[in-house]
Amino acid sequence: MHKIISVVGARPNFMKIAPFIRAINIFNWRVEDESKIEHILVHTGQHYDPAMSDNFFRELEIPEADINLGIGSGTHAEQTGQTMMAFEKVLKAEKPGWVVVVGDVNATLACSVTAKKELIKVCHIEAGLRSGDMTMPEEINRLVTDRLSDLLLAPDMLSVQNLKAEGIPDSKIRFVGNIMIDTLDANRLKASHLDINEIITRNLIHDYPALCALSPEQESYALLTLHRPSNVDRKEILESIVQFILDEICSQRVLIWPLHPRTRKMLESFDLFNAIYRQENLILLEPISYFEMLKLNMNAKIMLTDSGGIQEECTVLGTPCLTLRWNTERPITLSEHGGVSVLVGNDIDRIREEYALAVNKRRMPMRPELWDGHTAERCLRAILEYEG
Ligand code: UD1
Repeated sequence: MHKIISVVGARPNFMKIAPFIRAINIFNWRVEDESKIEHILVHTGQHYDPAMSDNFFRELEIPEADINLGIGSGTHAEQTGQTMMAFEKVLKAEKPGWVVVVGDVNATLACSVTAKKELIKVCHIEAGLRSGDMTMPEEINRLVTDRLSDLLLAPDMLSVQNLKAEGIPDSKIRFVGNIMIDTLDANRLKASHLDINEIITRNLIHDYPALCALSPEQESYALLTLHRPSNVDRKEILESIVQFILDEICSQRVLIWPLHPRTRKMLESFDLFNAIYRQENLILLEPISYFEMLKLNMNAKIMLTDSGGIQEECTVLGTPCLTLRWNTERPITLSEHGGVSVLVGNDIDRIREEYALAVNKRRMPMRPELWDGHTAERCLRAILEYEG
Protein backbone atom coordinates (compact mmCIF):
# COMPACT_ATOMS: atom_id res chain seq x y z
CA MET A 1 0.00 0.00 0.00
CA HIS A 2 1.20 3.49 -0.84
CA LYS A 3 1.27 6.06 1.90
CA ILE A 4 1.41 9.66 0.70
CA ILE A 5 1.65 12.86 2.70
CA SER A 6 0.75 15.96 0.76
CA VAL A 7 1.51 19.41 2.04
CA VAL A 8 -0.19 22.79 1.80
CA GLY A 9 0.70 26.04 3.53
CA ALA A 10 -0.58 29.12 1.77
CA ARG A 11 -3.52 30.20 -0.34
CA PRO A 12 -2.09 29.37 -3.79
CA ASN A 13 -1.50 25.76 -2.70
CA PHE A 14 -5.13 24.95 -2.08
CA MET A 15 -6.32 25.02 -5.70
CA LYS A 16 -3.36 22.79 -6.61
CA ILE A 17 -3.97 20.12 -3.98
CA ALA A 18 -7.75 19.87 -4.42
CA PRO A 19 -7.67 17.95 -7.73
CA PHE A 20 -4.79 15.76 -6.54
CA ILE A 21 -6.81 14.62 -3.52
CA ARG A 22 -9.81 14.01 -5.76
CA ALA A 23 -7.64 11.85 -8.03
CA ILE A 24 -6.56 9.79 -5.01
CA ASN A 25 -10.17 9.34 -3.92
CA ILE A 26 -11.22 8.20 -7.38
CA PHE A 27 -8.29 5.77 -7.51
CA ASN A 28 -9.24 4.37 -4.09
CA TRP A 29 -12.86 3.80 -5.13
CA ARG A 30 -11.66 1.70 -8.04
CA VAL A 31 -9.14 -0.60 -6.40
CA GLU A 32 -9.21 -3.39 -3.83
CA ASP A 33 -8.48 -2.57 -0.21
CA GLU A 34 -4.88 -3.78 -0.32
CA SER A 35 -4.05 -1.42 -3.20
CA LYS A 36 -5.67 1.69 -1.74
CA ILE A 37 -3.55 4.77 -1.11
CA GLU A 38 -3.32 6.01 2.43
CA HIS A 39 -3.32 9.78 2.18
CA ILE A 40 -2.49 12.30 4.88
CA LEU A 41 -2.98 16.02 4.31
CA VAL A 42 -0.68 18.32 6.25
CA HIS A 43 -1.40 22.07 6.47
CA THR A 44 1.59 24.01 7.78
CA GLY A 45 -0.71 26.86 8.87
CA GLN A 46 1.24 29.64 7.11
CA HIS A 47 -2.09 31.10 6.00
CA TYR A 48 -4.64 30.85 8.77
CA ASP A 49 -7.32 33.55 8.35
CA PRO A 50 -10.62 31.98 7.28
CA ALA A 51 -10.58 34.16 4.15
CA MET A 52 -7.07 32.95 3.24
CA SER A 53 -7.54 29.27 4.10
CA ASP A 54 -10.76 27.66 5.45
CA ASN A 55 -13.00 29.20 2.79
CA PHE A 56 -10.90 27.58 0.08
CA PHE A 57 -11.08 24.18 1.77
CA ARG A 58 -14.87 24.44 1.94
CA GLU A 59 -15.40 25.69 -1.62
CA LEU A 60 -12.96 23.32 -3.26
CA GLU A 61 -14.18 20.41 -1.10
CA ILE A 62 -10.76 19.73 0.30
CA PRO A 63 -11.08 17.46 3.34
CA GLU A 64 -10.00 19.05 6.59
CA ALA A 65 -6.23 18.70 7.06
CA ASP A 66 -5.34 15.60 9.04
CA ILE A 67 -2.53 17.54 10.69
CA ASN A 68 -2.16 21.31 11.08
CA LEU A 69 1.31 22.41 12.11
CA GLY A 70 0.01 25.84 13.21
CA ILE A 71 3.10 27.73 12.05
CA GLY A 72 1.42 31.09 11.34
CA SER A 73 3.15 34.31 10.34
CA GLY A 74 6.80 35.15 10.84
CA THR A 75 10.03 35.82 9.02
CA HIS A 76 11.07 33.40 6.29
CA ALA A 77 13.56 31.68 8.59
CA GLU A 78 10.99 31.41 11.36
CA GLN A 79 8.32 29.96 9.08
CA THR A 80 10.74 27.59 7.38
CA GLY A 81 12.55 26.46 10.53
CA GLN A 82 9.40 25.92 12.56
CA THR A 83 7.77 24.02 9.70
CA MET A 84 10.82 21.75 9.43
CA MET A 85 10.85 21.01 13.15
CA ALA A 86 7.14 20.20 13.24
CA PHE A 87 7.10 18.29 9.96
CA GLU A 88 10.05 16.12 10.97
CA LYS A 89 7.99 14.79 13.88
CA VAL A 90 5.12 13.99 11.51
CA LEU A 91 7.43 12.10 9.16
CA LYS A 92 9.02 10.10 11.97
CA ALA A 93 5.57 9.08 13.23
CA GLU A 94 3.93 8.40 9.86
CA LYS A 95 6.83 7.13 7.71
CA PRO A 96 5.17 7.79 4.34
CA GLY A 97 6.53 6.49 1.04
CA TRP A 98 6.10 9.89 -0.60
CA VAL A 99 5.83 13.55 0.33
CA VAL A 100 4.04 15.58 -2.33
CA VAL A 101 4.64 19.33 -2.35
CA VAL A 102 3.08 21.92 -4.67
CA GLY A 103 4.06 25.37 -5.86
CA ASP A 104 6.77 27.54 -4.36
CA VAL A 105 5.78 28.77 -0.92
CA ASN A 106 7.79 28.32 2.27
CA ALA A 107 5.95 25.08 3.06
CA THR A 108 7.17 23.64 -0.27
CA LEU A 109 10.80 24.26 0.61
CA ALA A 110 10.62 23.31 4.28
CA CYS A 111 8.81 20.04 3.74
CA SER A 112 10.87 18.88 0.78
CA VAL A 113 14.14 19.45 2.66
CA THR A 114 12.81 17.67 5.75
CA ALA A 115 11.49 14.71 3.79
CA LYS A 116 14.74 14.26 1.86
CA LYS A 117 16.74 14.17 5.09
CA GLU A 118 14.37 11.48 6.38
CA LEU A 119 15.11 9.51 3.17
CA ILE A 120 11.52 9.88 1.97
CA LYS A 121 10.80 10.38 -1.72
CA VAL A 122 9.65 13.85 -2.75
CA CYS A 123 7.35 14.70 -5.63
CA HIS A 124 7.06 18.33 -6.71
CA ILE A 125 3.93 19.36 -8.57
CA GLU A 126 4.59 22.54 -10.61
CA ALA A 127 8.30 21.84 -11.07
CA GLY A 128 10.64 23.73 -13.38
CA LEU A 129 9.22 27.25 -13.20
CA ARG A 130 12.05 29.80 -13.12
CA SER A 131 11.94 33.57 -12.93
CA GLY A 132 15.73 33.86 -12.72
CA ASP A 133 15.13 36.43 -9.98
CA MET A 134 17.00 35.43 -6.85
CA THR A 135 15.48 38.30 -4.88
CA MET A 136 12.17 36.41 -4.89
CA PRO A 137 11.79 34.01 -1.97
CA GLU A 138 9.70 31.78 -4.24
CA GLU A 139 12.60 31.36 -6.69
CA ILE A 140 14.82 30.06 -3.90
CA ASN A 141 12.04 27.71 -2.83
CA ARG A 142 11.64 26.42 -6.40
CA LEU A 143 15.35 25.84 -6.98
CA VAL A 144 15.94 23.94 -3.74
CA THR A 145 12.77 21.87 -4.05
CA ASP A 146 13.49 20.87 -7.64
CA ARG A 147 17.09 20.02 -6.86
CA LEU A 148 15.96 17.63 -4.13
CA SER A 149 12.86 16.10 -5.68
CA ASP A 150 12.77 12.54 -6.96
CA LEU A 151 9.87 13.22 -9.28
CA LEU A 152 9.41 16.59 -10.99
CA LEU A 153 6.00 17.19 -12.52
CA ALA A 154 6.16 20.10 -14.94
CA PRO A 155 3.23 22.26 -16.12
CA ASP A 156 4.64 23.13 -19.55
CA MET A 157 7.51 22.32 -21.90
CA LEU A 158 9.39 25.53 -21.05
CA SER A 159 9.63 24.24 -17.48
CA VAL A 160 10.80 20.84 -18.71
CA GLN A 161 13.56 22.60 -20.65
CA ASN A 162 14.59 24.56 -17.55
CA LEU A 163 14.98 21.34 -15.58
CA LYS A 164 16.98 19.66 -18.32
CA ALA A 165 19.22 22.71 -18.62
CA GLU A 166 19.97 22.36 -14.90
CA GLY A 167 21.10 18.79 -15.46
CA ILE A 168 18.11 16.99 -13.96
CA PRO A 169 17.90 13.56 -15.61
CA ASP A 170 14.97 12.87 -17.93
CA SER A 171 13.95 9.91 -15.80
CA LYS A 172 12.88 12.25 -12.98
CA ILE A 173 10.85 14.64 -15.14
CA ARG A 174 7.27 14.23 -16.34
CA PHE A 175 5.32 16.78 -18.38
CA VAL A 176 1.86 16.61 -16.83
CA GLY A 177 0.23 20.01 -17.49
CA ASN A 178 -1.09 22.63 -15.11
CA ILE A 179 -2.99 21.27 -12.12
CA MET A 180 -4.55 24.67 -11.31
CA ILE A 181 -6.45 24.45 -14.54
CA ASP A 182 -8.08 21.21 -13.32
CA THR A 183 -9.58 23.32 -10.53
CA LEU A 184 -10.55 26.11 -12.89
CA ASP A 185 -12.32 23.73 -15.28
CA ALA A 186 -14.09 21.91 -12.46
CA ASN A 187 -15.48 25.12 -10.98
CA ARG A 188 -15.98 27.67 -13.73
CA LEU A 189 -19.61 26.80 -14.31
CA LYS A 190 -20.49 27.13 -10.62
CA ALA A 191 -18.56 30.39 -10.42
CA SER A 192 -20.28 31.79 -13.48
CA HIS A 193 -23.63 31.71 -11.63
CA LEU A 194 -22.47 34.12 -8.92
CA ASP A 195 -23.76 37.67 -8.96
CA ILE A 196 -21.07 40.34 -9.10
CA ASN A 197 -22.90 42.89 -7.02
CA GLU A 198 -23.49 40.26 -4.35
CA ILE A 199 -19.78 39.40 -4.34
CA ILE A 200 -19.04 43.07 -3.79
CA THR A 201 -21.59 43.58 -1.03
CA ARG A 202 -20.46 40.44 0.78
CA ASN A 203 -16.81 41.41 0.82
CA LEU A 204 -16.78 45.18 0.97
CA ILE A 205 -14.12 46.59 3.27
CA HIS A 206 -15.91 49.87 3.85
CA ASP A 207 -19.49 50.50 4.84
CA TYR A 208 -20.44 52.70 1.94
CA PRO A 209 -22.19 50.57 -0.65
CA ALA A 210 -23.53 53.59 -2.54
CA LEU A 211 -20.09 54.13 -4.07
CA CYS A 212 -20.00 50.61 -5.33
CA ALA A 213 -23.07 49.74 -7.32
CA LEU A 214 -21.81 48.41 -10.64
CA SER A 215 -23.39 49.63 -13.83
CA PRO A 216 -25.35 47.07 -15.87
CA GLU A 217 -22.53 46.62 -18.33
CA GLN A 218 -20.46 44.76 -15.79
CA GLU A 219 -17.70 43.90 -18.23
CA SER A 220 -16.25 47.37 -17.99
CA TYR A 221 -14.47 47.11 -14.66
CA ALA A 222 -10.77 46.56 -14.02
CA LEU A 223 -9.56 44.05 -11.41
CA LEU A 224 -6.38 44.45 -9.34
CA THR A 225 -4.46 42.12 -7.03
CA LEU A 226 -1.17 43.07 -5.40
CA HIS A 227 0.86 41.32 -2.74
CA ARG A 228 4.51 40.88 -3.82
CA PRO A 229 7.07 42.46 -1.50
CA SER A 230 8.59 44.14 -4.60
CA ASN A 231 5.34 46.10 -5.10
CA VAL A 232 3.97 46.63 -1.63
CA ASP A 233 6.89 46.81 0.80
CA ARG A 234 8.31 50.19 -0.34
CA LYS A 235 6.29 53.33 0.15
CA GLU A 236 7.34 55.14 -3.02
CA ILE A 237 6.45 52.17 -5.23
CA LEU A 238 3.11 51.42 -3.60
CA GLU A 239 2.23 55.11 -3.56
CA SER A 240 2.94 55.52 -7.28
CA ILE A 241 0.76 52.50 -8.12
CA VAL A 242 -2.05 53.83 -5.93
CA GLN A 243 -1.76 57.25 -7.58
CA PHE A 244 -1.94 55.70 -11.04
CA ILE A 245 -5.03 53.66 -10.30
CA LEU A 246 -6.82 56.62 -8.74
CA ASP A 247 -5.90 59.15 -11.43
CA GLU A 248 -5.92 57.03 -14.54
CA ILE A 249 -8.10 53.99 -13.96
CA CYS A 250 -10.77 55.07 -11.49
CA SER A 251 -11.28 58.30 -13.42
CA GLN A 252 -12.61 56.17 -16.29
CA ARG A 253 -14.00 52.96 -14.87
CA VAL A 254 -14.65 50.97 -11.73
CA LEU A 255 -11.67 49.16 -10.29
CA ILE A 256 -12.21 46.22 -7.94
CA TRP A 257 -9.33 45.50 -5.58
CA PRO A 258 -9.45 42.54 -3.16
CA LEU A 259 -6.78 43.44 -0.61
CA HIS A 260 -4.21 40.87 0.48
CA PRO A 261 -3.49 41.14 4.25
CA ARG A 262 0.12 42.07 3.58
CA THR A 263 -0.90 44.88 1.22
CA ARG A 264 -3.48 46.23 3.63
CA LYS A 265 -0.91 46.29 6.43
CA MET A 266 1.59 48.14 4.25
CA LEU A 267 -1.01 50.66 3.02
CA GLU A 268 -1.90 51.38 6.61
CA SER A 269 1.68 51.67 7.79
CA PHE A 270 2.55 54.06 4.90
CA ASP A 271 -0.53 56.20 5.63
CA LEU A 272 -1.91 55.39 2.20
CA PHE A 273 -5.03 53.58 3.27
CA ASN A 274 -7.03 56.79 3.75
CA ALA A 275 -6.21 57.84 0.20
CA ILE A 276 -7.99 54.80 -1.22
CA TYR A 277 -10.75 54.39 1.35
CA ARG A 278 -14.14 55.49 0.01
CA GLN A 279 -12.85 56.75 -3.31
CA GLU A 280 -15.31 56.91 -6.14
CA ASN A 281 -15.01 53.98 -8.57
CA LEU A 282 -12.59 52.12 -6.29
CA ILE A 283 -14.11 49.06 -4.67
CA LEU A 284 -11.95 47.64 -1.90
CA LEU A 285 -12.70 44.08 -0.86
CA GLU A 286 -11.49 41.69 1.80
CA PRO A 287 -9.64 38.65 0.38
CA ILE A 288 -12.33 36.90 -1.68
CA SER A 289 -13.03 33.23 -2.26
CA TYR A 290 -11.85 31.14 -5.20
CA PHE A 291 -15.26 31.14 -6.92
CA GLU A 292 -15.64 34.88 -6.38
CA MET A 293 -12.24 35.61 -7.90
CA LEU A 294 -12.99 33.35 -10.83
CA LYS A 295 -16.28 35.11 -11.50
CA LEU A 296 -14.71 38.57 -11.24
CA ASN A 297 -11.90 37.48 -13.56
CA MET A 298 -14.34 36.02 -16.12
CA ASN A 299 -16.14 39.34 -16.41
CA ALA A 300 -13.28 41.83 -16.01
CA LYS A 301 -12.29 44.11 -18.86
CA ILE A 302 -8.69 43.97 -17.73
CA MET A 303 -6.63 42.38 -14.95
CA LEU A 304 -3.68 44.03 -13.20
CA THR A 305 -1.85 41.57 -10.97
CA ASP A 306 1.46 40.43 -9.53
CA SER A 307 0.16 36.90 -8.90
CA GLY A 308 1.52 34.01 -10.97
CA GLY A 309 -1.60 31.89 -10.55
CA ILE A 310 -3.88 34.67 -11.74
CA GLN A 311 -1.67 35.13 -14.82
CA GLU A 312 -2.39 31.49 -15.63
CA GLU A 313 -6.11 31.81 -15.02
CA CYS A 314 -6.22 34.88 -17.29
CA THR A 315 -4.53 32.81 -19.99
CA VAL A 316 -7.32 30.24 -20.02
CA LEU A 317 -10.12 32.77 -19.51
CA GLY A 318 -8.58 35.17 -22.04
CA THR A 319 -8.68 38.24 -19.77
CA PRO A 320 -6.15 40.86 -20.95
CA CYS A 321 -3.58 40.95 -18.14
CA LEU A 322 -0.90 43.40 -17.07
CA THR A 323 1.60 41.61 -14.85
CA LEU A 324 3.12 44.08 -12.39
CA ARG A 325 6.49 42.34 -12.29
CA TRP A 326 9.76 42.63 -14.16
CA ASN A 327 10.03 38.91 -14.77
CA THR A 328 7.87 35.85 -14.59
CA GLU A 329 8.44 32.18 -13.88
CA ARG A 330 5.45 31.55 -16.15
CA PRO A 331 6.54 32.84 -19.59
CA ILE A 332 3.95 30.60 -21.24
CA THR A 333 1.32 33.14 -20.13
CA LEU A 334 3.00 36.02 -21.98
CA SER A 335 1.86 37.42 -25.31
CA GLU A 336 5.09 36.28 -27.00
CA HIS A 337 4.06 32.68 -26.28
CA GLY A 338 0.48 33.29 -27.39
CA GLY A 339 -0.82 34.26 -23.93
CA VAL A 340 -2.67 37.39 -22.81
CA SER A 341 -0.22 38.77 -20.29
CA VAL A 342 2.33 41.59 -20.61
CA LEU A 343 5.10 42.32 -18.11
CA VAL A 344 4.95 45.93 -16.96
CA GLY A 345 6.98 45.88 -13.73
CA ASN A 346 6.12 48.82 -11.50
CA ASP A 347 7.22 51.58 -13.86
CA ILE A 348 4.21 53.86 -14.19
CA ASP A 349 4.99 55.03 -17.74
CA ARG A 350 5.13 51.44 -18.89
CA ILE A 351 1.95 50.53 -17.02
CA ARG A 352 0.17 53.51 -18.60
CA GLU A 353 1.30 52.59 -22.11
CA GLU A 354 0.36 48.92 -21.86
CA TYR A 355 -2.87 49.68 -20.02
CA ALA A 356 -4.01 51.89 -22.91
CA LEU A 357 -3.34 49.04 -25.34
CA ALA A 358 -4.72 46.19 -23.26
CA VAL A 359 -7.90 47.81 -22.03
CA ASN A 360 -9.41 47.74 -25.49
CA LYS A 361 -8.38 44.19 -26.34
CA ARG A 362 -10.88 41.40 -26.82
CA ARG A 363 -10.75 38.29 -24.68
CA MET A 364 -8.38 35.75 -26.21
CA PRO A 365 -8.65 32.44 -24.32
CA MET A 366 -5.73 30.07 -24.85
CA ARG A 367 -4.96 26.52 -23.75
CA PRO A 368 -1.29 25.61 -23.50
CA GLU A 369 -0.59 21.93 -24.14
CA LEU A 370 -2.00 19.61 -21.44
CA TRP A 371 -3.80 22.40 -19.59
CA ASP A 372 -6.80 20.17 -20.12
CA GLY A 373 -8.29 19.56 -16.69
CA HIS A 374 -6.69 16.11 -16.30
CA THR A 375 -3.32 16.98 -14.82
CA ALA A 376 -4.04 15.53 -11.37
CA GLU A 377 -4.62 12.05 -12.83
CA ARG A 378 -1.28 12.25 -14.62
CA CYS A 379 0.43 13.38 -11.40
CA LEU A 380 -0.93 10.42 -9.46
CA ARG A 381 -0.07 7.99 -12.25
CA ALA A 382 3.51 9.30 -12.34
CA ILE A 383 3.86 8.60 -8.61
CA LEU A 384 2.35 5.12 -8.84
CA GLU A 385 4.51 4.20 -11.84
CA TYR A 386 7.72 5.58 -10.36
CA GLU A 387 10.58 3.14 -10.56
CA GLY A 388 13.51 5.07 -9.10
C1 UD1 B 1 2.80 33.77 0.45
C2 UD1 B 1 3.80 33.10 -0.50
C3 UD1 B 1 3.63 33.67 -1.90
C4 UD1 B 1 2.20 33.56 -2.36
C5 UD1 B 1 1.31 34.25 -1.33
C6 UD1 B 1 -0.15 34.22 -1.69
C7 UD1 B 1 5.97 32.45 0.49
C8 UD1 B 1 7.40 32.75 0.47
N1 UD1 B 1 5.18 33.35 -0.11
O1 UD1 B 1 3.15 35.14 0.56
O2 UD1 B 1 4.44 32.94 -2.78
O3 UD1 B 1 2.06 34.18 -3.62
O4 UD1 B 1 1.50 33.59 -0.08
O5 UD1 B 1 -0.88 34.85 -0.72
O6 UD1 B 1 5.57 31.43 1.00
N2 UD1 B 1 -1.32 37.15 6.94
C9 UD1 B 1 -2.54 37.34 7.52
N3 UD1 B 1 -3.39 36.27 7.49
C10 UD1 B 1 -3.08 35.08 6.93
C11 UD1 B 1 -1.81 34.93 6.35
C12 UD1 B 1 -0.95 35.99 6.36
O7 UD1 B 1 -2.85 38.39 8.02
O8 UD1 B 1 -3.92 34.15 6.96
C13 UD1 B 1 -0.36 38.26 6.95
C14 UD1 B 1 0.92 37.87 7.66
O9 UD1 B 1 0.84 38.17 8.99
C15 UD1 B 1 1.98 38.65 6.92
C16 UD1 B 1 1.40 38.83 5.54
O10 UD1 B 1 0.02 38.53 5.61
O11 UD1 B 1 2.20 39.89 7.50
C17 UD1 B 1 2.12 37.98 4.53
O12 UD1 B 1 1.97 36.59 4.81
P1 UD1 B 1 3.12 35.54 4.49
O13 UD1 B 1 2.68 34.19 4.90
O14 UD1 B 1 4.41 36.03 5.07
O15 UD1 B 1 3.37 35.54 2.94
P2 UD1 B 1 2.53 36.07 1.68
O16 UD1 B 1 2.94 37.46 1.37
O17 UD1 B 1 1.06 35.80 1.85
